Amino acid sequence: MADESKKWVLMVTAQTPTNIAVIKYWGKRDETLILPVNDSISVTLDPDHLCTTTTVAVGPSFQKDRMWLNGKEISLSGSRFQNCLREIRCRAGEVEDEEKGVKIGKKDWENLYVHIASYNNFPTAAGLASSAAGFACLVFALAKLMNLKEDQGQLSAIARQGSGSACRSLYGGFVKWIMGKDESGSDSIAVQLADEEHWNDLVIIIAVVSSRQKETSSTSGMRESVETSLLLQHRAKEVVPKRILQMEEAIKKLDFPSFAQLACADSNQFHAVCLDTSPPIFYMNDTSHRIISYVEKWNRSEGTPQVAYTFDAGPNAVMIARNRNVAAALLGKLLYYFPPQEGTDLNSYVLGDKSILKDVG
Ligand code: ADP
Ligand code: DP6
Ligand code: CO
Repeated sequence: MADESKKWVLMVTAQTPTNIAVIKYWGKRDETLILPVNDSISVTLDPDHLCTTTTVAVGPSFQKDRMWLNGKEISLSGSRFQNCLREIRCRAGEVEDEEKGVKIGKKDWENLYVHIASYNNFPTAAGLASSAAGFACLVFALAKLMNLKEDQGQLSAIARQGSGSACRSLYGGFVKWIMGKDESGSDSIAVQLADEEHWNDLVIIIAVVSSRQKETSSTSGMRESVETSLLLQHRAKEVVPKRILQMEEAIKKLDFPSFAQLACADSNQFHAVCLDTSPPIFYMNDTSHRIISYVEKWNRSEGTPQVAYTFDAGPNAVMIARNRNVAAALLGKLLYYFPPQEGTDLNSYVLGDKSILKDVG
């Protein structure tokens, strides 16, 4: 290294939005490489809200890799962090900062440590895909810091090894995670199906039913489902492949009724798989169920779907309205039927689409 002074630090900050699956990933065929049992499709949220901000720094005075999540130091010893760090380090390029007089060669990265500080501006581990935004942001920021030449697809394969859903957050708009065939994982990557502008009318409303950390993490939940649920096998082999094709078509044609029908059915089947797991996993609660019933009734009374709902591994509702007028009406109805008051834990709504953050807590 040209500069042996212990004084310099190079830093990169990145911001990455979370993504919500409309055809869900639930189940791995390879736990270490994080290879899924089926394809999945998601929509990446607006970066203005629900995002992770991560700063990564490198300098000769750092003694080991360290990370702080939401202000608290966490261990990096887990294999997910280690796999991401290793994959990025071995692809690191040359970096030069003339102002600081710093020149880092490819080999130097092996002897340099990173410090990482990350913040989620939404509940962590509560079923709003913090692991997706978190690992996508981490990989993106480190790749920038270490001057990787890899394209988005290759970066998505690295983010995938941090958390499966993270591979989809490297793109905006509608994104498909292709499960891939190769057991090395090289073809298990995310691709963009349509960009942010493609379906501009859609508005995403997130009702935070509970911001508490879930009892069963997605990782252990899906492991138990793979081990015990027959429905999961049927879903992965027979149901999802057809739904993926239908969902791609619905997105391409801006066909909201099909989109809504598929998204709701897929969310409900994913939660059915959780119930089919032994012991059963309950991610949704009474409020989640009441929201489903409410949206279903409304859609039926209108004759054609106005709102799609989907729930990840947690009780929080993600509702996708077909346009702004529907979204405004939905928000009004939610506030009326689920009034935020003492004693209820439904305390905030986030309205996506160039977002309006509505905190009624
Ligand atoms: P979620 O539904 O929020 O994705 P998961 O159970 O899938 O919940 O993942 C939660 C885990 O993701 C956290 O315990 C933490 O290990 C990791 N995680 C969350 N946020 C970040 C972040 N900003 N950077 C790195 N890892 C994160
Ligand atoms: C229900 O990506 O959080 O949100 O790969 O073990 O980190 P790991 O799990 P994770 O699982 C997400 C599950 C889901 C559906 C989805 O995002 O597709
Ligand atoms: Co997650």
